Amino acid sequence: TYVVTDACIKCKYTDCVEVCPVDCFYEGENMLVINPSECIDCGVCEPECPAEAILPDTEGGLEAWLELNTKYSAEWPNITEKKDPPADADEHKGEEGKLDKYFS
Ligand code: SF4
Ligand code: F3S
Repeated sequence: TYVVTDACIKCKYTDCVEVCPVDCFYEGENMLVINPSECIDCGVCEPECPAEAILPDTEGGLEAWLELNTKYSAEWPNITEKKDPPADADEHKGEEGKLDKYFS
């Protein structure tokens, strides 16, 4: 599966949702997640993300993100259409430690 990681937090560009053939993105206040049981591993979302937030879980070291994507995709609503990112999205692009700072 692919997973959404730290880099999405506070950026939420949502380019990813437009290309996913199985509509498996879910939206929280500060980030999106992928439902790993729905993702078909096509990989088309990865290069679409301007924040480079989407990675294949085969990359290693992403267990915590896999867990987070699994947990929240079961709780948050599905998102299938691109929308405007937050006004300050570009300011948070590439910022370190966003999980600890903003995710609750
Ligand atoms: Fe959707 Fe494909 Fe990305 Fe999985 S890898 S989330 S199926 S676009
Ligand atoms: Fe997040 Fe990138 Fe999608 S910033 S909303 S994973 S396009």
